[in-house]
Order: sequence, then structure tokens, then C-alpha cells
Amino acid sequence: MTSQIKSFEDYQETYARSVADPEGFWAEQAETFTWRKPWRQSLKWNFREPRVKWFVGGRLNITENCLDRHLATRGNQVALLFEPNEKGARARKITYKQLYGLVCQFANALKAQGVKKGDRVCIYMPMTPELAVAVLACARIGAVHSVVFAGFSAISLADRIKDAQAKVVLTSDYNARGAKNIAVKAIVDEALALGCDSVEHVIVHQNTGGAVTMKAGRDIWWHEAVKGRRRTCKPTIVDSEDMLFILYTSGSTGKPKGVVHTHGGYMVYTEYTFRNVFQYQEGDIYWCTADIGWITGHSYIVYGPLLAGATSLMFEGVPTYPDAGRFWDIVQRHKVNIFYTAPTAIRALMAAGDQWVKGRRMSSLRVLGTVGEPINEEAWHWYNERVGKKRCPIVDTWWQTETGGIMITPLAGITPLKPCYATYPMPGIQPCLVDGNGNEIEGNDVEGMLCIKFPWPSILRTTYGDHERCRLTYFSTFKNKYFTGDGARRDANGLYRIIGRVDDVINVSGHRIGTAEVEDAINKAPNVVESAVVGYPHDIKGQGIFAYIISSEPVEDMAAFKSSVLNTVIRVIGPIAKPDKVLVVPGLPKTRSGKIMRRILRKIAEGDTSNLGDTSTLLNPEVVDTIKDGAQRI
Ligand code: PRX
Repeated sequence: MTSQIKSFEDYQETYARSVADPEGFWAEQAETFTWRKPWRQSLKWNFREPRVKWFVGGRLNITENCLDRHLATRGNQVALLFEPNEKGARARKITYKQLYGLVCQFANALKAQGVKKGDRVCIYMPMTPELAVAVLACARIGAVHSVVFAGFSAISLADRIKDAQAKVVLTSDYNARGAKNIAVKAIVDEALALGCDSVEHVIVHQNTGGAVTMKAGRDIWWHEAVKGRRRTCKPTIVDSEDMLFILYTSGSTGKPKGVVHTHGGYMVYTEYTFRNVFQYQEGDIYWCTADIGWITGHSYIVYGPLLAGATSLMFEGVPTYPDAGRFWDIVQRHKVNIFYTAPTAIRALMAAGDQWVKGRRMSSLRVLGTVGEPINEEAWHWYNERVGKKRCPIVDTWWQTETGGIMITPLAGITPLKPCYATYPMPGIQPCLVDGNGNEIEGNDVEGMLCIKFPWPSILRTTYGDHERCRLTYFSTFKNKYFTGDGARRDANGLYRIIGRVDDVINVSGHRIGTAEVEDAINKAPNVVESAVVGYPHDIKGQGIFAYIISSEPVEDMAAFKSSVLNTVIRVIGPIAKPDKVLVVPGLPKTRSGKIMRRILRKIAEGDTSNLGDTSTLLNPEVVDTIKDGAQRI
């Protein structure tokens, strides 16, 4: 086990040491894991290409550290505690020993389907234990998993399968989510019909038992695939820098990119952060409400907790089904000690009223966490008072798909808290604020663009199949720095507060959505000539999506037009990207070089039209007033 910080003085001391000698600090942490071959050098790096290697020459398998090394000491302890979608359905408890057996058995099934080290496996599954088993089974044999959130459309899934050239797709028959029963296998069929030539097999987990069509020779049932397979499987020993997974995420431009993480560094960093941020204690019941389709689920439902030997609760459903008391019911029933969720869920549950929290026995709770978007003050206080009864520290954890693990955060019960502040960097993390000219802003009580100056073990290594894109996106804006895309403030005492994205990325309910992607999708709707989307403040979602659209025909039936746009976005991306507001406009404000002036559109969407700046240099200044009037009416 990596070391655990015990006090704020300890944090300050550890931080100073980690920055003075990052190589030595991380080597010390890494030594606590099982390695099959020691590394020659702790770190090799430059941010120019970029090229970052941690624990160079070391060989290991991450699942040996998640599973095998726990068998002797906690084989009978629950590893995954599964709470199904339907309230009242029996929870499933899977011990470390059982999980080991399931992972090995499925790893053997994958091998039998021809999956080898380095092959990409796309996973499009609901939040059932089999999803975690699938992820770990890939890692066990050195295959690269690419989990796609099961709310994405067939087109988005196909794009990701093609980009990764996945050989096998893992899915389920149906996905039970709240009152919905989603035909995920049918979505996979639709995706594969879009020219995913790399796919040889589809393995289908029977989840609800609903009817599906199975394509002979290509599709195979999960239970058939594992039949007769051994429950032991030697881990494939890989290089520290071999690819562990690809996870697609949105940026300002173009299609989502496949962020690549590798075995060694990711392992060390997720375990270290899990144990320290949440101050995990042996025997704790830990619950992160994210979906494994996102980085939070990868790092803090599967890898981090299992590496630390924790009991990780997995919930299949949604916070409001069958009612807004579902989360608190689960906390009470399973005596959850550490609870980690997103501000959007807190706001939705807060809006549902206090009656759902009142009267619950939630005294088991010790630590609360949030992630994914800035938390507003009202939600922070509600979470603190109503859920934590003012006795549970809230860790507001800032990080990204690209960072692999938590970067700036309080340590539970150790760091003095300030509402809405992510506070201080983790040991080994060297943040800085940079101004528009690329100069580092020194001192306190300042604001700027958030960058990181030095590599940490789980920094992204590349974007799959396009290293230049990785360089351009993250390492070219500011020389010798990793650029996060976020703006932040450092207060008078040096505490960090994350303000939000400074690029064309919208954060809707904690989901990262690129404006270019949504525009691309909208432009596919009938009669759409051009569109521009921006984010605007939304009470529950944090940010909503506001779409300005030019139509080729006069729009007589606005409701029909809006639903045709929404349906197109759902078909192309998925429901998470559908615009909240749609405004038909005669034109979009553009500069003389043809660039859309999003700043103006953002202000109008925010309802702040008092100071739009100088619009006289626009190509078409007259459209601004028309847009302003239109926006006021919706
Ligand atoms: O803008 C920041 C926001 O979410 C972005 C990263 O999104 P994603 O890669 O999907 O990962 C989300 C889960 C780690 C960041 O660039 N963000 C994440 N956590 C916070 C946050 N904004 C404010 N406060 C946070 N705690």
C-alpha cells in the first residue's frame, strides 16, 4: 500500500518533498506494488514531443495488483457490491476471490475469441458487475479496453470502434436504467452496420433476458463464451508503458479523441489518490455514483478502490428512480462510509426537496466527494448540512480524463475546507496559472489559465492514432506546460478554485461536450444551413446547450423544427448532447474573416446583453439585435 498522509503538516511536508524530488517520491509509492521486473529509471520526459515514461523498463500486470495480491489477506472480503436498478432487488456481493475467478474466466473466454495483447476491445455495457469484469479481463491479458458510455448513439459508437480498430465488442442485451429499458445490443448491431470492419466478434451478456438477434459466426453469448473456461488465468506481463486503455473525450474541435493511459503510472497514481483523498480506511464501504463509461468510473469505481483492496459499490440505476430518495436509501442500507458524486446529482436531489433525506439513518457517512464540474455554493451547503450533517468533509476533486486521477483537492478531514474550492494540489502535482501571453502568474489572489508544469504518473501519453493532435491540444498552447483547458483562481491564501472551461467545451451535467460536435450533428438535421452552440448557466445541469440555427426555409412550426433538431442530435451523438434551447436566426455574427463570434452568442445566451462589446467590426452587425430579441422570447 502506498503511504497515507495523516495531518495537514504531513501534507505540507509530503508536498514539498514530492516537488523537490518527484522521481524519488513516486518511486517510493510504486515500490509498494507487485512488479515482475523492477524499473530502471523512475521517469523520462519532455513536454515538447511530448514523451512521458514512468517506471521505465518495469514489468507488471495491473490486475495482479487489483486481485491476486489481495487473495491471501482479503479473499473473502466483498470487492464489488452491486445494487441493481430495481429497488428491492437483491444486491450482489462479489468477494475478491470470486472476482478473481470471474475475471480469469472471462479473460480465458476473450483469449478463445482470438483476443491478444495489444488488441483493442470495445465495451458498451450497462453498470453491471460484468462491465467491471470485462474491463479487468482485458487488462489481465494485456488487451486495451475502450469503454464507450452506453448512452452514446450507434453513430458515436461506430466512430469510436473504427478509430480504435476494435477487434471485439462486449455488450449486453438490454440496459435497465430507471424506468427505461434500452436495447443496447440493437444499438451495437446498428453501429456495426456502419462499416466497422475490424470487429470479428460480439460477446453479449444476458442482462434482462429480452429478445435480441444474434448474428451467426459473429455474436456469442457471454455465458456460452465462459462455459468450461478455467477460473485461473496467468496475467500477461506487460511493460509499464504498454497501453492499458483508451477513453474517448470531447475537445474544442473535431471528433472526440482517444485518451491513452498506460499500466504502471496509472496504477500508482489511482491507488495513491484513492487512499489519500478519501482517507480510505480498511473495511470502508465506498460508493462512487459515476458510470464506468467515464474516467471517474475507471479510476474510482474499478482501479483505484480495487488496488487499495476496498469494497466498491456499483449502482446500475439513476438517482431519481423510483424516487429522489434512492441514493440515501442505498447509503442507509449498505452503510456507506465514503460517498462520491457529481454536483448535478446534488442539485437535482436538492431540488426534489429535503423530505427525501430527512429521517434516513446516514450516520455511516464519513467522507463526501464531488467531481466533474464546479459546485455552486448553495449545493455545497446543502450537501454539507443535509447529507453530511455538518460532520463529513467534502472533497471537491478537480481532474480530467487526461489526468487519469484526482489533481487538485482537499484531503478528507485534513485540508481546511473552503466551499467551492478544490484547494491544494496532490503531492507531485505542480499547477500554475498562465496569462494570455503565456506568462506564468506568480503570487496569490490571481486568476488565469490552469496548466501543470511537471508530469505525474497518470498523465495521458497520447491520443490514440494521432500523437500530433495530443501535442497540439495539450502541449503547444504554452511552452513546456500541460494545458488543462480550464480557468482557475488562486485566492489570497493560495487555494485553487476552478472556474470552468476557457475553450469551446460545454460541461453539461458533468459531461464534457464539444460545441463543434454538437454543431456537426445539428447541421445534419433537415433544412439546417448553419448552426452555433454555446453553453449557458443551467440550475440543475450546471450548463445547458443553447443552439442558434439558420434554416433554409421559413420555420412555421417551431415545435416540429426543434424536435427534428433534437432527434438528429440524439441519433448522431446521444441524448446527453441535445440542446436545451433552440433559436432560429437569420444569420450568425461573424468577423470579417468568417469566424463566428461566440463571445457575443454566449453573452446573449446568458441573458447578459448590456455589454456585448464592439459589434461594428462584424461582417453583419445587424443580426445581433434580431438574435437578442429572439433570445428574449425563448
Ligand atoms: O472543466 C473541468 C471539469 O471537468 C473537466 C474534465 O472533464 P472530464 O474529462 O469528463 O472528467 C470529469 C471527471 C474527472 C475539467 O476540465 N471538472 C472536473 N472536476 C471538476 C471540474 N470543474 C470544477 N470542479 C471540479 N471538481
